Amino acid sequence: MRDFSVMTDHPILSVRGLSIARDGKALLGVDHLDLDGPGPTIILGPNGAGKSLLLRCLHGLITPDRGTVTQGGQTLTDQVRAGQAMVFQRPVLLRRSVAGNLDFVLRRRGLSRAARKTECEGLLAQGGLEDKARQSARSLSGGEAQRLAILRALACKPSVLFLDEPTSALDPQATQEIEQMVLRASDQGLRVVMVTHDIGQARRLARDVVMMHGGRVVEQGLAAQMFAAPENGMIRRFLSGGLMV
Ligand SMILES: Nc1ncnc2c1ncn2[C@@H]1O[C@H](COP(=O)(O)OP(=O)(O)OP(=O)(O)O)[C@@H](O)[C@H]1O
Ligand SMILES: [Mg+2]
Repeated sequence: MRDFSVMTDHPILSVRGLSIARDGKALLGVDHLDLDGPGPTIILGPNGAGKSLLLRCLHGLITPDRGTVTQGGQTLTDQVRAGQAMVFQRPVLLRRSVAGNLDFVLRRRGLSRAARKTECEGLLAQGGLEDKARQSARSLSGGEAQRLAILRALACKPSVLFLDEPTSALDPQATQEIEQMVLRASDQGLRVVMVTHDIGQARRLARDVVMMHGGRVVEQGLAAQMFAAPENGMIRRFLSGGLMV
């Protein structure tokens, strides 16, 4: 994994003048956003706030009407995007075995058979799926499938990992397992940017928070400060559960 601390003096991800509108309605308007520091960054906000749209722009899945996204000062070329991975709310898996899903990604990295076997075993252990290697990925439980989706993303050796509400369909135990994987990856130097509307999850995971509402970033800062003393009254209402969409 790349060590951003020695890379450049550019923020890891930068957004400038970003806007998306449909049918004359502004959906996203983010004028200036820099994500620097080690993360995890949590993008937090109520339903319809524009969290997924922003994440998709950061990953280059959506081309905005206006504005730019850069990573380490570079525009999102295919090469830059190849260093990003994304995990969605519903796990995206191949109709293969659990190990086959990982091997597919490891092959694309051009690893030898022996190297793929070693790396696959390491990944399976990381996700607690050692005894599921030969099982069909489609027969996994929701939590196991999401753990495999994260392992597939990690198998790409990305420098940035985006996650869009990866636990919203999971029970508390499965959620905790995913959160531990995310924190471990972050501790190991992977830059994590994760969307959630779950304030408890944001409190557990975030080093810094981007708070969104109505397609805009309404506050950004270190989690410890924002949760202790939000500057904005609307955020206070959201954090206390009183903000309706
Ligand atoms: N392709 C599209 N065409 C029209 N409107 C869209 C499109 N994509 C998103 N929107 C609208 O943009 C707004 C923001 O959507 P987005 O999916 O980013 O919200 P979100 O914060 O991720 O919400 P949630 O927590 O429910 O996932 C919503 O009002 C949504 O209906
Ligand atoms: Mg969303």
